Amino acid sequence: MNTLLLKDNENDINRAGEILRNGGLVGIPTETVYGLAANALDGSAVKKIFAAKGRPMDNPLIVHIQAIDDIERFDLVSDFPEKAKKLAEKFWSGPLTMIMPKGSAIPDEVSAGLDTVAIRLPEHKTARAVIKAAGVPLAAPSANLSGSPSPTTAQHVINDLGGRIDAVVDGGECRVGLESTVITLATEKPRLLRPGGVTVEEIESVIGKIDIDDAVLNKLADGEKAASPGMKYKHYAPKAKVIMLKGSDSAYIDFVNSNSGAHTAALCYDTDSDRLNVPTFPLGNKNDCLSQAHMLFNSLRKIDEHPEIRLVYARCPSTEGVGLAVYNRLIRAAGFEVKDLEKL
Ligand code: TXA
Ligand code: MG
Repeated sequence: MNTLLLKDNENDINRAGEILRNGGLVGIPTETVYGLAANALDGSAVKKIFAAKGRPMDNPLIVHIQAIDDIERFDLVSDFPEKAKKLAEKFWSGPLTMIMPKGSAIPDEVSAGLDTVAIRLPEHKTARAVIKAAGVPLAAPSANLSGSPSPTTAQHVINDLGGRIDAVVDGGECRVGLESTVITLATEKPRLLRPGGVTVEEIESVIGKIDIDDAVLNKLADGEKAASPGMKYKHYAPKAKVIMLKGSDSAYIDFVNSNSGAHTAALCYDTDSDRLNVPTFPLGNKNDCLSQAHMLFNSLRKIDEHPEIRLVYARCPSTEGVGLAVYNRLIRAAGFEVKDLEKL
């Protein structure tokens, strides 16, 4: 299959809409990461997403809408809880996904057999324009091969899925760079399943205290059931081994400089790089979690372009605000291996 590279103009967006209406797959930009979209109401179109990505069929997809009204119009949920309405009002359009009891229009392929559905209204204008052009809500996971870091440019999508999907719309680099916050409102007490661009602190300021799922910060025990099926899969992993180092600037720099060989690299803050004697990959600014979120996946992909690198020492981000999302992704890339330098 030849993958069309479409531009961010009316003509090409209409073309993308037509491909989607006809059951095809299109990579689309969003403010978080690129998504691999199909008509969410068409089970056989949605099935193709799993095949193209090599995604396990038991991992449900997010349904993307272009206006809050789409929820009722397409019968996407059987209940739109009051707290979900409040969050929608405050954070949509934006990087927040809400899980609710599913409506009759949702095929089993989207919800992976669960009785809930995840809904998101993206902020990216092009994403909304493509949904509008398609005339239906779009199911879209991140547009990477399963197990690779999520794509933050159209080129990343081509690298992973070129030849396997119908088209990609190039909408430039993603603003946030990490996937959306996922919260379930289908449980008694709202529960955070995946941290992202909308922070716990921001959510709690609107609906009060929420639970944080164990899988956000910790590894699931063998056989433990994941509230969000995606959390149980190995994710965001570059080919090199990654170890997170927790400690001060100088402890990090001393450790890396005295424990590195020919195959070592560092994933570090911009102020660290001059002081390290190994190749470095940027993890943004120490005091700016948004810059860390923006750089992380791009750097993980860059590391993969260097097969000679076998070990990466990464800084350990703070877990405040958007830092929690950076930490959550990085700790998965590191297979949960964190070394506390203050305890050596
Ligand atoms: O920012 C994003 O959310 C991007 C863009 C494209 O919108 N999408 C994305 O999709 O990250 P994906 O499939 O890579 O991650 C969706 C996560 C998975 O961990 C999945 O298990 C979880 O959401 N999820 C989806 N539906 C669910 C449901 N009904 N119950 C629990 N978890 C669900
Ligand atoms: Mg994904």
